[in-house]
Amino acid sequence: QKDDEFRARQHHEEEISSLPRHEGWRQLSLRLYKGFWFPEAILPGVLSLRHHLRPTSSDIFLVSFPKSGTTWLKALAFAISTRKPELLQSRHPQDCSPNLETFFAGPRVPDLDALPSPRQLSTHIPYSVLPKSVHDSPCRIIYLCREPKDTLVSTYHFVNGMHRPEAAPQMPLTEAVELFCKGLTMYGPVWEHQLEYWQESQRRPEKVLFLKYEDLMADPEAIVRRMAEYMGKPFSAAEEMNGMVGEIVRFSSFEKLSGLEINKVGLWGKEFDLDHLAIKKSSFFRNGKVGDWTEHFTAEMAERFDAIARDKFHQSGLTH
Ligand code: A3P
Repeated sequence: QKDDEFRARQHHEEEISSLPRHEGWRQLSLRLYKGFWFPEAILPGVLSLRHHLRPTSSDIFLVSFPKSGTTWLKALAFAISTRKPELLQSRHPQDCSPNLETFFAGPRVPDLDALPSPRQLSTHIPYSVLPKSVHDSPCRIIYLCREPKDTLVSTYHFVNGMHRPEAAPQMPLTEAVELFCKGLTMYGPVWEHQLEYWQESQRRPEKVLFLKYEDLMADPEAIVRRMAEYMGKPFSAAEEMNGMVGEIVRFSSFEKLSGLEINKVGLWGKEFDLDHLAIKKSSFFRNGKVGDWTEHFTAEMAERFDAIARDKFHQSGLTH
């Protein structure tokens, strides 16, 4: 079996080195795989999990485009499943469910059976690139979508702040907009990413629960109830009476999480033996606002994004 793993890894490395590459984001090398731009360091994990991942029917996949509120989604799903939101005071939300491609990118195939059941697994992989086993299994997917203008602003700050010893100079926002609009960003293009999950959620609502960051911000309790039902853990009358929903929302809120020492100090990702990917724990919390793009964009930039959305989402029913 070890030989098999070794051969598969070698084969993946060869495949990756033949893929188109882009270094526009400086700190972040991207490779084009099946129509999407993946961080090069993560691609071995994507290929490995396509080969090795065996979903079970009770798995819940927490999926998002990077910088769309994954941290929030993980915190909420964790609090809903454990009914112990206070545990978020001692656990970084990113550690509440493993990011699959990071987990699989390490030197060994991880043992996911060790995770508590039902497993919560997170990923940024586009729907069409997920292994067929995930499409075919009764496992469920919760997708969190965010307005791409805010996603770009968040990505821009995140990548500029990424930890790397030989720090690269900061990129101007205009350049980031240019790259992002061409799909040249982690897991981009964002529009295709969102559309794939949207269409699957329309086709199979039992398979994909499609949520929006903006709706979560507007009425978190309503979305938490939807999530809980979808996860097969609806709130009982007693829990409703005791204010459990409000507690989950409160302990998962940006204000609460961003103020905790556990989320402020140190690097995340060191344990994956992918040191070049190490990211400051605090960088998952910036300001957590809807519409922050208005502070950064010119009218032309906004129109460019909106025109792409109109074109790509035309007649899909998906709007931001
Ligand atoms: P901003 O950079 O716009 O502030 P991800 O978790 O997918 O990496 O996304 C990070 C974005 O989600 C950041 O957006 C971050 O501030 C925001 N975020 C993190 N935790 C949040 C929370 N509990 N509530 C709302 N937004 C949150």
